[in-house]
Order: sequence, then structure tokens, then C-alpha cells
Amino acid sequence: MAAFQERVFSGVQPTGNLHLGNYLGAIKRFVELQTKYDCIYCVVDLHAITVWQDPAELTKNIREVTAAFIACGIDPTKHIVFNQSQVHEHAELAWVFNCVARLGWLNRMTQFKEKAGKDRENASVGLYAYPSLMAADILAYRATHVPVGEDQKQHLELTRDIAQKFNNDYAERIASLGFKDGFFPLTEPLISGPATRVMSFRDGTKKMSKSEPSDYSRINLTDDADAIAQKIRKAKTDPEPLPGEEKGLESRPEADNLVGIYAALADTTPAEVLKQFGGAQFSTFKNALVDLSVAKLGPIGAEMKRLVQDPAHIDGILADGAARASKIAAPVIRSVKDIVGLVHS
Ligand code: AMP
Ligand code: TRP
Repeated sequence: MAAFQERVFSGVQPTGNLHLGNYLGAIKRFVELQTKYDCIYCVVDLHAITVWQDPAELTKNIREVTAAFIACGIDPTKHIVFNQSQVHEHAELAWVFNCVARLGWLNRMTQFKEKAGKDRENASVGLYAYPSLMAADILAYRATHVPVGEDQKQHLELTRDIAQKFNNDYAERIASLGFKDGFFPLTEPLISGPATRVMSFRDGTKKMSKSEPSDYSRINLTDDADAIAQKIRKAKTDPEPLPGEEKGLESRPEADNLVGIYAALADTTPAEVLKQFGGAQFSTFKNALVDLSVAKLGPIGAEMKRLVQDPAHIDGILADGAARASKIAAPVIRSVKDIVGLVHS
């Protein structure tokens, strides 16, 4: 890996209803990584349109995700925050990767199968090719580390497969142009901590998601204190008190989920949470979780609401980030063209 400068890249789709899973599984980790790495955080609007988006809503949601990044503590001056469609190198590299990735690889992607549903013939071509665009997002910056939730693991494996095949197919050209150890890094996924897969409040076996119809299934980052309290109090649980040790959470998905959420919000571990709450009834634990959630999420929601009042300011941040991102990606794409044999100026 030594040949590659360490760099973090990640993306979030502007598809509405940013929730606690997005925060704990992704954005909170993005914030933490800023002290150790140079980071690029992208609002992936081209990924969003792989399924239908109302144009006015899409614009609003791009600004809202940007506001969430900033409200959570991402610094867009020290790091880079932008929306994908403003940096054309993503789409350009995605095309090259469409020619590297194999149909057989994409056919195995579980997210496509879930999102396309039964009527696969009617899914967009973009939804199918989604993972090559994701690989392009990451590799346009030759990023080495990618923080994501559990659900993105398979896409990151595909990103490594694409990088590896490109490095192999063009090995001679890559070496003759003076690149040692291949041209693209084999990116490391960063998936860890107690909340890599936050589950629905209505069903502990289903992922918390933006698209579940019931708003009671998730906490949105813009929910106020009353909504947060109500949703946690109504969250499905079982009748047993909390166990004293983690082993006692096995086969209790709802309890496991709430303990994981508490641990992630409090920056501790499930074992520590159970030391404190083992033997307690859910009513007691939920009260503590409400207090903690309101304390941690309340200020974020308020700041998001304040920031979206000034769209010109947000658009300025995105334009500045896009210009800086493009400066990093442009030479990478020029090298890709040299490697592949495409003529360019
Ligand atoms: P998306 O909204 O699909 O663009 O997801 C943005 C980020 O949030 C990705 O890194 C996802 O893996 C992460 N994420 C989405 N849902 C969850 C969840 N329920 N638990 C943990 N992480 C999640
Ligand atoms: N596919 C990711 C998701 O749905 C979003 C995404 C797009 C992404 N490009 C990325 C995440 C690059 C990490 C790196 O959550």
C-alpha cells in the first residue's frame, strides 16, 4: 500500500430521510476520520437518479445531505465536500470501469436484486451499473480507505475486483508509465463499531432505511425531541429485562439493536452498556436512550434546519469542493487515458 497516499472517500445518496443508521454507520465515522486522514465526502446525486427522483426534491435533498455533513462536524475547508455530478471525472471513469467489470460480477450484487425487485426488466440500466460508478467515485481519487455501513461491503469488494483487473489487464502499460505496484490501490473498507447495521424500530430483522413507509421505523436526523422520544418509546422490544452480557443479546434482535445504538451514541461498547443496564426493564433503558439521543441528535437537526435556510451558502461550499476534487481527479483520469491508449490533449 505504501505506493499510495492514504486518502478517505465516501458518499451518501441524496434520497431524503437521512436517518440514525446513516449517522451511526457512516457520517459519524466520517467526522472521526478527519483527524487522521485527508477526506473527501461526496453527495452522490448520480447514484440517486438510478431510481426516479422528483427534480425539485432532488435539489433540496442534495442541499440537505450537505447540511447534514456540516452539522455533524465535517469541515469543508480542511477536507472536501461536493456533489458528484459537478465533477465529470466520476462519470468518465465509470464508463471505463463498465468496460472492465464483468456482467457475471454485477449479476451477483444483492443491492441490485433488492432494489430492482420482481420487475427486473423495468429497472434502469443505471441501477445495474451502479457499482461501477461507485468504484469510479473511489478510484478517481485513488482513495485507500472507505468508511461505510455493512450494506456496502459487497460493493467495496467489487471495487477491489475492478481495480485488480484494471491493474492486471494493463500491467505492462502501467509499469512502462512508471507506476509501481499497479495504478489503482485495493481500497480498504472501514466497517466497524457497534452500529454498522442499524435495524428498523418496527422489525429488528430489517435494516433501518430511508424508503420504509412507516416513519416510526427510523429516527430522522431532522426529527425534534418529541418525535425522537415517541419513536424510541414505541420501538418494538421483547418482554425480558436487558441481559448482563452480550451473549444474552443473541436471538433478541430488537434488544441488540437498541443496545448497539446506545453504545454508538455514547462512544462506548455494548458490553459497557450492559454492565450499566443489565437487569433493567426496557422502560428504564428507553428513557435513558431518549435522553442520550435527544442530547446528541437534537443539535444536529437544529443546525441542519438553520443551514438549509441559506441555499446559496451551501451551493458555494459544493462548488468550492467540486473545484478542489476535480484538481485531484483530473490527472488520474489523464493517466487512465494514457494507460488505456486514448488520445487526449
Ligand atoms: P445511502 O443512504 O444508501 O447512501 O447510505 C449512506 C451510508 O449510510 C452508507 O455508508 C450506508 O452503508 C450507511 N447506512 C445506510 N443505512 C444504514 C443502516 N441501517 N445502518 C448502518 N449504516 C447504514
Ligand atoms: N452506494 C453507497 C450507498 O448507497 C453510496 C456511495 C456511492 C458510496 N459512491 C460511494 C459510498 C463511494 C462509499 C464510496 O450507501
